[in-house]
Amino acid sequence: MSGCENHWNKAMQMHGFKNEPAKFGAFKGVSAGRRTWSFRRHVKNIGFVFLWMGFFIIFDEFMVSVFDAVNLRNISRPARSSWPKEDRNASGEVEKPAVKMYDRLLHMASTALTEKEFKQESSSFWEKPQRQASLWKPCADKKVPTGSGKLGNSRGDNGYILVSANGGLNQQRVAICNAVAVASLLNATLILPRFLYSNVWKDPSQFGHIYQEKYFIKTLEGDVNIVKELPPHLRSLDFEAIGSQITDADIAKEAKPVDYISGVLPILKRNGIVHFLGFGNRLGFDPVPFNLQRLRCKCNFHALKFIPKIQRAGSLLVKRIRKYDASQNILDKQLLGNFLPAPPLGRHDIAKGRSKYLALHLRFEEDMVAYSRCEFGGGKDERKELQAYREVHFPLLMERLKKTKYVSPAELRKLGRCPLTPEEAALVLAGLSFKRDTFIYLAGSDIYGGMSRMRPLTGLYPNLVTKETLLTPSELSPFRNFSSQLAALDFIVCATADVFAMTDSGSQLSSLVSGFRTYYGGEHAPTLRPGKKRLAAILSWNATIRWKTFEYKVKKLIEEGQIAQVRRFGRSIYRQPRCPECMCRSPSLSQFMPARNSY
Ligand SMILES: *[C@@H]1O[C@H](CO)[C@@H](O)[C@H](O)[C@H]1NC(C)=O
Ligand SMILES: *[C@@H]1O[C@H](CO)[C@@H](O)[C@H](O)[C@H]1NC(C)=O
Ligand SMILES: *[C@@H]1O[C@H](CO)[C@@H](O)[C@H](O)[C@H]1NC(C)=O
Ligand SMILES: *[C@@H]1O[C@H](CO)[C@@H](O)[C@H](O)[C@H]1NC(C)=O
Repeated sequence: MSGCENHWNKAMQMHGFKNEPAKFGAFKGVSAGRRTWSFRRHVKNIGFVFLWMGFFIIFDEFMVSVFDAVNLRNISRPARSSWPKEDRNASGEVEKPAVKMYDRLLHMASTALTEKEFKQESSSFWEKPQRQASLWKPCADKKVPTGSGKLGNSRGDNGYILVSANGGLNQQRVAICNAVAVASLLNATLILPRFLYSNVWKDPSQFGHIYQEKYFIKTLEGDVNIVKELPPHLRSLDFEAIGSQITDADIAKEAKPVDYISGVLPILKRNGIVHFLGFGNRLGFDPVPFNLQRLRCKCNFHALKFIPKIQRAGSLLVKRIRKYDASQNILDKQLLGNFLPAPPLGRHDIAKGRSKYLALHLRFEEDMVAYSRCEFGGGKDERKELQAYREVHFPLLMERLKKTKYVSPAELRKLGRCPLTPEEAALVLAGLSFKRDTFIYLAGSDIYGGMSRMRPLTGLYPNLVTKETLLTPSELSPFRNFSSQLAALDFIVCATADVFAMTDSGSQLSSLVSGFRTYYGGEHAPTLRPGKKRLAAILSWNATIRWKTFEYKVKKLIEEGQIAQVRRFGRSIYRQPRCPECMCRSPSLSQFMPARNSY
């Protein structure tokens, strides 16, 4: 529609400019005596003007329709190599129509991208704006000098700690590192963490199917004692019966270290073992002694290395999307080990051959969408479908809602509670001036609504790839039934991306990936993190906002989210490792920096 409007306005302006001088010029100095003739001429002139206008309008409409046809083609047919199938059901080719909320903005975005197609300049968001980010270096693996409150050589004499972590890959990762910290705190020996089988993730993978066991044990040697198995005398015990089983109901969320010392240590000492069942989010972030924080960071950023099978597939993905075979920076090395060789000498040829890519994590799966209680432009069908989903999957939520005040979907949107749709993500990327040919790696899968939802995104950005389109079926099949291992591949490709764009800062994958990029990426790993509330405010002007204004506002929004901040009190160090416990600031430069909270 906007395209139409723009063209129409332009056409009107053009007719105006062209015709007005002619029209008035023709009548200048015409004498009153020749009024009849003049009147005839006037009529003729007007007729002529109308004819021209008619012609322009028809021409204009023709151009607009050509434009639309081009857009439509782009929107309905993504590049073959990319986003797949799905909406073709067994009987044939039927595709559901695209669900869109911002027709006008999409059209403007499409026009803007077409205009930029032939320009040289690329989006400034490929680079991180803060050079100061490079002042912080990874150093959680450095030994702490003695005398600064060291915990002592924990030999693990107080007993064994067994952890059965729940959730998916990324929740497990957090649970593992918190367990390492707790084991160290209690001078306990940690058994290699176990993963609970969940009906959501349906993945029987254990620690050794994802992470290198020996490397993990060796890296943390001296900090905490870790063994692979329970000693024989404890294997046959019924932990629950002897009171050694501790579930999430027994420990406060984000418990303090003293809670472990007062509540858990006595059981450990008495029974020689404690079993944490679940263990999600059970250790608070502040205040926690310096060394425990450092240990957490060391665990997350240094001790957990993916097994070669995952590194190999990850490096295949990265090579194919970059079209380049060598490693690029320390992030590659950390995540892919030796599967990406060091680049040949003379680094300048790197930039030429390889493709940059942006990784996008869209958290728009059905569970998320239904849980939010927002509306996404799908009308009555969507409302019914999501309501049904909630009733089946979130009975507790439904109960709670009955007791609380009703908040309308529009209100929720205003509050920034609605997950971003693929369409909204596309508009943000277009607002940041990422070009149409940008390679986008889409993490995760199962976008709610499938193709009908993806089409606005693939229409603007046809070079969209996923692990399914980059790997052959036989390369992918060893991972097929293992959602955590698949998630590990996403983790790798997102963390090593030139730009990582998240749509939900509450997501574990997004936050752990962004933490990884902060820790190892220096100034080369920008993360785009749109605040949902402010974006909702910008988008509420969708009917009238000019594209330039939209661009300006979106750029501003993202820039503000990119300020290199020091971790604030209570924030996760996995997500924001920029703090003295995890990273070291270059001392020579620090004296020139203002002593404020953001650098
Ligand atoms: C395919 O989709 C169309 C419309 O979406 C529907 O009418 C038809 O029944 C579907 N066929 C099968 C075999 O599911
Ligand atoms: C752990 O061991 C260290 C040194 O061996 C000791 O100082 C500390 O008090 C112990 N902590 C607990 C909770 O046992
Ligand atoms: C995945 O699981 C399905 C059944 O759940 C099974 O039929 C299939 O063979 C498995 N595939 C692989 C590669 O293990
Ligand atoms: C788009 O603009 C219309 C008209 O101002 C508004 O009613 C609607 O809420 C906007 N859409 C969103 C999702 O903000």
